[in-house]
Amino acid sequence: MPSAETFKALLRVQDLTREFVSRRGLSTRHLVAVDRANLTISADQHEILTIAGESGSGKTTLARMMLGLVEPTSGHMLFKDRDVSHITGGANRKWFRRQVQPVFQDPFATFNPLRRIESYLYETVGNYGVAPRKTADEPIERALNAVGLSLREVKGRYPSELSGGQLQRVSIARALITDPSLLVADEPVSMLDASLRMSVVNLFRELKARQSVIYITHDLATAYYASDRVAIMLRGWIVELGPVQKVLGEPKHPYTQLLKTSVLEPDPRQKSTERVSLATSDEGSFVRVGCRFADRCPHVMDICRSVEPPDVPVDGRLVKCHLYESQSSTEEAAEAAAPLVASAT
Ligand SMILES: Nc1ncnc2c1ncn2[C@@H]1O[C@H](COP(=O)(O)OP(=O)(O)OP(=O)(O)O)[C@@H](O)[C@H]1O
Ligand SMILES: [Mg+2]
Repeated sequence: MPSAETFKALLRVQDLTREFVSRRGLSTRHLVAVDRANLTISADQHEILTIAGESGSGKTTLARMMLGLVEPTSGHMLFKDRDVSHITGGANRKWFRRQVQPVFQDPFATFNPLRRIESYLYETVGNYGVAPRKTADEPIERALNAVGLSLREVKGRYPSELSGGQLQRVSIARALITDPSLLVADEPVSMLDASLRMSVVNLFRELKARQSVIYITHDLATAYYASDRVAIMLRGWIVELGPVQKVLGEPKHPYTQLLKTSVLEPDPRQKSTERVSLATSDEGSFVRVGCRFADRCPHVMDICRSVEPPDVPVDGRLVKCHLYESQSSTEEAAEAAAPLVASAT
C-alpha cells in the first residue's frame, strides 16, 4: 500500500438518497427508501458499525448503495477521497469493488450445491486479478486462515458437506481475498443457528484488525456485543448514530428506546402501546411531513406532525428528534457524527 495515503475518511456518505418509483395501474408511488443518509467511516481506525432498525427501514438499500450495487438518486459517496457515487464501469469500479466487499445473508443461497466450494475462491482471485492462477492458492489460503479454515479442509468439497457456520466463513473468506478495507455484511448471521451466530460475530471482531465492517442486523444483542458504533434506521432516516454504549446503552431517540425495550425485555405484561412494532413500515409514512415516528412516539409534540426533526447532538451521539432541539450546536453535531477516536477503545 502506498504510504502517501492520508485520507481522513475511508468512506464518506453525504445526503445519500434512494427513491424507488413504483407504478400501480395509473397511480405512481414515490418511496424514499433511504433519505439523506450521512455517515463517515474513519480511515485511521478500523471499526464495526452496525446498522439496525425495523424491516423496510432502508438498511439493505443503504448497504447496496455503499457497495456500488444500487445507484443513489441524489447525494454523494466518497471512498478514499474519490467520488464513487456513480461508478458505472471501468477501472474505478474494479478498484472500488476490490476495496469494498459484500458478505451476504444466506450462505446456502450463495453457493451452488453442484459446484465445489473452492471454485468460488479461485474465481474471485481471477475476477479481481489478485494473483496469477499458478499462485492463486496463496491469497486463498490467507483468506481461509483469517476465518479459521484452510484450503486443505475446503478443497474438493461441495456446499452440502459443510455446516452453515462453515459456509458463512467461506463466504467471508471469499470477501477477504481482495484484501478489502471495508466489508459490508447484510444480516450475515440471520440464517444461522443461535449457537453459531456468536462465532461469526466474533470473527468480525477479529477481522477488525485488518478492515472495517458495516454490520447490518435485526439482532441488537450481537450488535451490542460486536459494534463500536450503531446507526438506527427508521423509514429511510438514520434517527440515532453514535458509539454503541451510548446508542444502545442509554438510547435517546424514542424509537431506539422502544426498539431496545421490545427486543431486550420482551415482557408480555407490558402495555402494547409501549412496545414498538417491528413489523414492516407502512409505505405511506415515508412521504408524510414532520417526523416519521410521530404516530408511534410516546413523546409526540405538535411540531413533530409538521416539521422534520433536525439531527441534534445529545450526549455524544446524534439524534434526529425535536425533543432535544434546544441543545443543538454545529460543532457538537460534527463531533457526535465523527468516527471514534483511538482513545475511545
Ligand atoms: N428495488 C426496489 N423497488 C422498489 N422498492 C424497493 C426496492 N428495494 C427496496 N424497496 C423498498 O424500500 C424500502 C426499504 O427496503 P430495504 O430492503 O432497504 O429495507 P431493510 O431495512 O433492509 O428491510 P429488512 O430488514 O426487511 O431487510 C422498503 O419499503 C422496500 O419495499
Ligand atoms: Mg434488508
